[in-house]
Amino acid sequence: MTNYSPLLADARALLIQAKHVAAFIGAGLSAESGISTFRGAQADALWSRFDPAALASREGFFANPEHVIEWYNWRRQTLAKASPNPGHVALGKQKRLIQITQNVDNLLERAGVPGQHIYHLHGTITKDRCDAFCGYERTLDLEHPPSLGKCPQCGHFLRPAVVWFGEGLPLDTWKKAESLCARIDCLLVIGTSASVYPASGLIHTARNSGARIIIVNTQPSDVSDMASVELTGPSGEILPELLEGLDICSFRNG
Ligand code: OAD
Repeated sequence: MTNYSPLLADARALLIQAKHVAAFIGAGLSAESGISTFRGAQADALWSRFDPAALASREGFFANPEHVIEWYNWRRQTLAKASPNPGHVALGKQKRLIQITQNVDNLLERAGVPGQHIYHLHGTITKDRCDAFCGYERTLDLEHPPSLGKCPQCGHFLRPAVVWFGEGLPLDTWKKAESLCARIDCLLVIGTSASVYPASGLIHTARNSGARIIIVNTQPSDVSDMASVELTGPSGEILPELLEGLDICSFRNG
């Protein structure tokens, strides 16, 4: 065991006692895979280098669609070269745990988390979809993503299948996540600043329903005061120890 030991033992006890657990995940989980976070102390944090209004809003897209697609394609190529880190791998072994993620990468899938157990609240950069919601979408070759294109079905722009600022979350996924967070006894919150809503409202939903909150983060976050246990350090180091030998579950019967 490492220097996290005393708090790790407390967190493991909470996970073992809990009947229903979920994970709520943010960009910090993928940081050790070389995927930049958005905020926080990291020098490469995206929103300290780029303007979210220009790159992550529909208005920004229509102002300069080529530029927006180039930026997403740069992120896609970074993702193509990245691999799941030990944090993803530890989560990948939890085959019965629902993992609610704000991340638009595919590293949980690649670490072995069953697709139906990953709730992508903010969509995915692995696909494009029709901006006009005609139903067309395409899965991309992340190494060689296409430049700006039009929908072959209806002629509107194709855009990354992510949720931008000012847009609603995918309704079915959101409803499932909300109802789960109202029922669990324990929420494992990993690598998120918990500053973006409505996603982070799920932590409040869980807490208000009586769930214990375990936080894994390299620094304090907006929800530190809600934590029963706060484990401070990189998720790639903490999660393998925290989850070692456990089979935590979101939908245990009885
Ligand atoms: P943020 O970038 O806001 O926060 C990342 C968090 O991860 C910070 O609290 C860091 O301290 C922490 N962190 C960094 N490295 C870590 C590590 N190795 N281990 C553990 N924690 C680490 O990311 P999110 O909270 O995910 O929206 O941001 C929420 C949303 O804001 C994103 O989904 C994105 C962005 O705008 C969309 O893409 C729609």
